[in-house]
Amino acid sequence: MPSSTFLLIRELAELESAFRAEVASLATEQEIRAAQARYLGKKGRVSELMKQMGRLPAEERPQVGEVANRTKNGIEAETERRLCELRELARKQDLERQVDVTLPGRCEPVGHLHILTKVRREIVAIFAELGFEVAFGPQVETDFHNFEALGIPKDHPARDMQDTFYVADDVVLRTHTSPVQIRTMLSKAPPVKIVAPGAVYRKDDDPTHSPMFQQIEGLLVDEDVRMSDLKGVLLHFVRRFFGRDLGIRFRPSYFPFVEPGAEVDMQCTFCGGRGAGCRVCKGTGFLEIGGAGMVDPVVLKQVNYDAEKFNGFAFGMGIERMAMLRHGINDIKLFYEGNLRFLEQF
Ligand code: DAH
Repeated sequence: MPSSTFLLIRELAELESAFRAEVASLATEQEIRAAQARYLGKKGRVSELMKQMGRLPAEERPQVGEVANRTKNGIEAETERRLCELRELARKQDLERQVDVTLPGRCEPVGHLHILTKVRREIVAIFAELGFEVAFGPQVETDFHNFEALGIPKDHPARDMQDTFYVADDVVLRTHTSPVQIRTMLSKAPPVKIVAPGAVYRKDDDPTHSPMFQQIEGLLVDEDVRMSDLKGVLLHFVRRFFGRDLGIRFRPSYFPFVEPGAEVDMQCTFCGGRGAGCRVCKGTGFLEIGGAGMVDPVVLKQVNYDAEKFNGFAFGMGIERMAMLRHGINDIKLFYEGNLRFLEQF
């Protein structure tokens, strides 16, 4: 056998072991198929060697051809063997993977209503149980509804109590929910029994004041309404909302739209009214929760109600303040910062 034939046969035979070595280090089907193509493809290493066959004596070609076929078959078989081996390995790893079926599942976080929304709805519900209807008014309000009709003319010192955002000369961001009293009475005849929750605005900014906050207004106008009715309603509210047997008291105060007017205090939610040494109520045993009083006849006349026949009471409370007192929150800003770690608690 001439040495060129011998060399070709040896080179062909060596290709198979070269392929075997190469494929042993490959771990994906894609890589293995690519390697196979480098050997058996049209321009692969086997084909390149076959091209040299033309230079051999004709009688020796069949022998070389046979070796070439064996090499091809060997490479194909090795490809399948290695793929099979990898599949088997993957299966084994799968079976060996330890799964702790007792681990709790991963749940998607579920949202819920904002604490202030819940508190507002709860407060409204307590008054609704007593037969109060819910009324709303605009947050951009006329000077007339926000001040004038409530007995607060332009030069009145009471305007200084509420630092007002002006939108135009006679248009303001409402500074309280009291204008809803006026709107309600202008739109219907007595009797009236409403609560009006909603946002109000004041140029005020510290740990207990926010430029936007929420109030709930109450108004009841009928025949023969007494201040004891007002007190009974507010006492009922405090006991329902705080779920405890807390007392309330009225301190004489001045609001231009009620006469007599009062600041409403409730017994401190922290010391239960004991006072001494309590930081929350500063030792007084009481916390202020809002203003209230008997509707001033001046207001009834503004809305053309017969002040001889009808009278009523009104009250206004801060919704944030209620939530802060009930949940022991000391900074009103926490409600508005959107910090989920705070909000998720409620
Ligand atoms: N509107 C008052 C304020 O925001 C609160 C208030 C006081 C409302 C007395 C009332 C009331 O209805 O009778 O300061």
